[in-house]
Amino acid sequence: MKRIQVIGIGAGDPEHLTLQAVRAIGATDVFFLLDKGEEKDDLAALRRTILAEHARQPHRVAVVPDPARDRTAATPAYAPAVDDWRRRRADAYERLVLDELAEGECGAFLVWGDPALYDSTLAALEEVHARGTADFTWAVVPGVSSVSALTARHRTTLNQVGRPVRITTGRRLAEEGLPDGPDDIVVMLDARQAFAALAGRGLHIYWGAYLGTPDEILLSGPLDTALAVRISQVREEARARKGWIMDTYLLRRPAGRQ
Ligand SMILES: C[S@@+](CC[C@H](N)C(=O)[O-])C[C@H]1O[C@@H](n2cnc3c(N)ncnc32)[C@H](O)[C@@H]1O
Repeated sequence: MKRIQVIGIGAGDPEHLTLQAVRAIGATDVFFLLDKGEEKDDLAALRRTILAEHARQPHRVAVVPDPARDRTAATPAYAPAVDDWRRRRADAYERLVLDELAEGECGAFLVWGDPALYDSTLAALEEVHARGTADFTWAVVPGVSSVSALTARHRTTLNQVGRPVRITTGRRLAEEGLPDGPDDIVVMLDARQAFAALAGRGLHIYWGAYLGTPDEILLSGPLDTALAVRISQVREEARARKGWIMDTYLLRRPAGRQ
C-alpha cells in the first residue's frame, strides 16, 4: 500500500516543527511540493532548511505547479471558482500519487502551519481517494498554526474565559461586517485590510505579519483610526519591500459588549 503523510510544518519558524513532524519527515521517501510561484523564495527556503535538517538521505522531491486560481471572482462566483481550482489541484495530486510514489513507499506534503486550517491539501486528497484511481492511505500530523503563533507572540489567549471565538477571512469580514456572536474574531487571508472599517468600535487588535520569521512584525492596541492607519502603512511598506505579505490578526471585543 502507498502511504501519504500530510505534515504541518508550522507558520515560519523552523522550531515550530513538532517531534512528531520530525519523525514523519525522517520516514518519508518522496516529498510532494507545490510550486506556488509568488512568495516562493522565503517559503521554499523554510522547506529546504527542514528537508536538509530532518529528511533522510537520499530522498526524492517531486514538484508540481500549483494550478492558477481565479481570486478576482466576486462572491457569488467565488465558490465555483474554488471548486474548479480544487478539482485541478486534485488532478495534480492524483498524478503525483500514481506516477511518483511506488508501492510500499511513503510520500509527504509539507503544509504551512496546520493542515486543518485554511488549507486545501486534505480536501484534495479526499477527492483523489474518492476517485478510486489510486490506492493509498493517509495520515495527518498537526502543526503550529499562524493563529497559535499570533496569540503566543502577543502573549494572549485566543478566547476570553468561557467565551466563543470565530476564525474567518478578510473577505467575509469586509462583506458581512463584525459578527454579533463571538467576542474574539481571528482574521486570515485579508488582502483588503478589513480591520480599517472597524476603527472606533471598542475593539482591541492584535496584528502580526511574517510570524515566526526574522521579518516578524507585531502591532497591538485599541483599534482607533490612528492604529488602523499605522497598521496599513506598516503592512504596505513591508509588502513593497518583500514583494509579498502574510498577516493575521485577532479582534477582541471585551466580553459581553455587542
Ligand atoms: C492559506 S492560509 C494557511 C494557514 C495555515 N494553514 C495555518 O495554519 O496558519 C494563509 C494565511 O495564513 C496566515 N498566515 C500564515 N502564516 C503566517 C505567518 N507566518 N504570519 C502571519 N500570518 C500567517 C495569513 O493570514 C495567510 O493569509
